[in-house]
Amino acid sequence: MNENTTPDMTLTQMADAVLRTADGRAKTALSHRYAALWRASREDGATPIEIGTISPPDVPARPDRPELLSPRDVPKRKPGTPEGRIAMLHAIAHIELNAVDLHWDLIARFSHVPFPIGFYDDWVRAADEESKHFNLLCDRLEAFDSFYGALPAHAGMWQAAEETADDLMGRLAVVPMVLEARGLDVTPGMIKLFQQAKDKDTVAALDVIYAEEVGHVSYGSKWFHFLCGRDNVDPKPLFHTLVRKYFHGALKPPFNDEKRAEAGIPPDFYWPLIS
Ligand SMILES: [Fe+2]
Ligand SMILES: [Fe+2]
Repeated sequence: MNENTTPDMTLTQMADAVLRTADGRAKTALSHRYAALWRASREDGATPIEIGTISPPDVPARPDRPELLSPRDVPKRKPGTPEGRIAMLHAIAHIELNAVDLHWDLIARFSHVPFPIGFYDDWVRAADEESKHFNLLCDRLEAFDSFYGALPAHAGMWQAAEETADDLMGRLAVVPMVLEARGLDVTPGMIKLFQQAKDKDTVAALDVIYAEEVGHVSYGSKWFHFLCGRDNVDPKPLFHTLVRKYFHGALKPPFNDEKRAEAGIPPDFYWPLIS
C-alpha cells in the first residue's frame, strides 16, 4: 500500500513521509492531508492516531531548485524595486518550507519523550500553517511570473535542526523562541514595504503569516516551560545557556515586545542575549 494514502499510519510515520517528500507543493499538500487526518482523529468518538516512533532523515528531502548558496553569496537586491520584492518573497518562501520540515521533524525526532497530546496538536497545527504560508508565497511569486526555485536561496537553514537533533530543549529555545520570534520582529517592516508598493494581495498573505506566527512562538514557549516545570529547572537561565550554545551570534533589536509578550516570551529572556 502507498504510504502516502494509508489511513492507519502513526503520526511519526506521517511526519517522516512529509520530510522525505522533496517537491515543495507536494510536501505541503501531504502536510495538509496529514494535519487534516490528525484533526479528524482528535474529534469525539474518532479512532485515535498512534504517535509511534521513527528515525527521521538527518536532512529533509528538498527540490533540486532553488540552488543553495552560503548567505554571503546570495545576491542582494534593493527592497524598493519589483525584483527586490520578488527576492524577498522567495526568501520567505524558503524559510516557510524549512519551517514545515522543522515542525514535522520536532514531532518525529523527539517522539521518545512523553508529552500530553496537546503537544502534537500544537505542532501539527504549526506545520499545517507553515504549509499554507509556503503556498501563499508561491502563489504570489507565480503572480509575478516567478516561482519558488527561480532564485538562489540560503544554504544552512537546517543547521539549527542538526545542531539540536539530540537536545529537545535546545531545539525549542532556538527554533520557535529565537528564529520564529525574529519573524515577529521583521514582518511588520515587510508588510509596510508591500503596502507602499500597493500590492494588496501580498499584504493579505503576510498578514495571515504574521498572525499565525505568534501561535508558533507561543507553542515553543509553552512546551519549553512545560519541560522546565517537569524537570524542576529555572527556565530563564536555561534558555540563555541554550541560546548561547546553539545560536551563533547575538539577538538583534529592535524587538517586537508586544507580539513577543503575546507569545509568552518576556523581555528578560531576550534582552540579555543582545551581546
Ligand atoms: Fe510561517
Ligand atoms: Fe512559524
